[in-house]
Amino acid sequence: MTSKERRPDKHGSDMWRGDAPSATQKIKKLMEPHRAKGALWKWLMLGLGTMLGVVTMDVVRKSATIAQTTAIPVEILAPLMDTSTSSTIMSVELVPGMKELPRDFTVTDFQKQLWWGEAIRESDNQIIVETIEVAIAYCSSDLNLIYESVLSQVPNQKQATVKITVLSKCGNEADVPNFIEDPRVKLVEVIPLPNVGGCDYAYAYFVNHYVAKTTPEEAASSVVLFTEDTPRTMENFRIRPVYKGYRNITEMLRIASGGEFACGVTPDCAYSAFHDTPTLYEFRINGYARTVVQRGQSVIEDNKDFNLLRYQNLREWHEKALNWTFPNSRVTAVCYAATFMIPAWRILNLSQQPIERHVMKTLEKEMARNVSSSIEGHFSERTWAGFYSVPLDEDHTNLILDMKSKIVLRQGAYHGLLKSNRERMC
Ligand SMILES: *[C@@H]1O[C@H](CO)[C@@H](O)[C@H](O)[C@H]1NC(C)=O
Ligand SMILES: *[C@@H]1O[C@H](CO)[C@@H](O)[C@H](O)[C@H]1NC(C)=O
Ligand SMILES: *[C@@H]1O[C@H](CO)[C@@H](O)[C@H](O)[C@H]1NC(C)=O
Ligand SMILES: *[C@@H]1O[C@H](CO)[C@@H](O)[C@H](O)[C@H]1NC(C)=O
Repeated sequence: MTSKERRPDKHGSDMWRGDAPSATQKIKKLMEPHRAKGALWKWLMLGLGTMLGVVTMDVVRKSATIAQTTAIPVEILAPLMDTSTSSTIMSVELVPGMKELPRDFTVTDFQKQLWWGEAIRESDNQIIVETIEVAIAYCSSDLNLIYESVLSQVPNQKQATVKITVLSKCGNEADVPNFIEDPRVKLVEVIPLPNVGGCDYAYAYFVNHYVAKTTPEEAASSVVLFTEDTPRTMENFRIRPVYKGYRNITEMLRIASGGEFACGVTPDCAYSAFHDTPTLYEFRINGYARTVVQRGQSVIEDNKDFNLLRYQNLREWHEKALNWTFPNSRVTAVCYAATFMIPAWRILNLSQQPIERHVMKTLEKEMARNVSSSIEGHFSERTWAGFYSVPLDEDHTNLILDMKSKIVLRQGAYHGLLKSNRERMC
């Protein structure tokens, strides 16, 4: 097994700093011509942006007080899991008689990191992050949590430019904290949106909004964090035992600045960030009821329109609604629980390709049909990572598949997730 891949750099979370190691310096040099020309503009724009941010917020605040909506604070961001099936996880070997790998089969640190979705595969994609775009799907939580859960974890705060976009879905714009007063924050935009399609609609809206206003030069040094408005505490963490907890922002920055899709949750060591594509494509949920919190009470919500267009499975939705399929037919990243970070160049790059651009537009339209408690919401949750991550090449696909011992078969939940032997991976 050849190891073309590079071990993730020891410098870890310092990777995106100005004082990053040599591989990164090289990339910076390549980008220098743009930078020099853009520098003055950048500062002018930042100043202007700051002013605009303040103005935008004021305007929004005024209109919000006038037109305060009466939206019910539904917990729009609950992890989309089927609560109607049993909670035990069935793992089934798809290849009958497949032998366990020999005891002395060793897994390198790089392989483990690749398996967990943490590895930086190619130094060419390394970026120095100058701008962190934070897109928040906001309903009614106290957004002061952003100071603690995001801003305080951004290292190198003197140089970082944080831009916050609040995608406000429940008419609570007046409660958005005055982020712009924080020296770490350079721009704040509050966008009122209809309360449809869960956080997926907000994210899909943001992507098209971002593409329209961002230059490739700016994207080259930016990452985008998509996050919910709920606190990242273990009480809110509902996808155990397969996932062991949240990935902090520092860690996500390290991964995303290496050109990778950084998921906001960490798999338990035996589980991968990747799914078997054919099995994932069979994902469906037949009936659906979920617990939502309304006015502080847990209510079981039945939804007879759950699968209005009668999709057989995820594959059919991709083919019929998106006119697209996962680029890697064997192994696909899936990120549950709706928090992730993407290098911004990846968003712009995809938007320049006709098929992917169409997907980005279609996702927004699909989610605008208010699918937060429909099967499309579950489909889109399983699509973000496979769409935005750079697909694994053949060697890395083989590495992942070599490490797996089982494929989780659990319709309605982690269908298709790859599992390995605990003793080998932990
Ligand atoms: C973030 O997570 C990494 C890896 O688990 C850990 O080493 C680091 O101390 C954490 N940083 C913060 C600010 O919590
Ligand atoms: C679907 O995509 C293909 C290209 O991959 C294109 O030729 C075709 O017209 C598209 N179909 C629809 C309905 O958009
Ligand atoms: C964007 O995508 C095209 C086509 O896949 C590729 O040739 C190009 O190198 C990409 N750009 C960047 C900056 O990665
Ligand atoms: C969207 O769907 C949810 C759940 O089905 C519902 O409570 C809400 O009223 C809908 N919102 C709109 C704007 O249609």
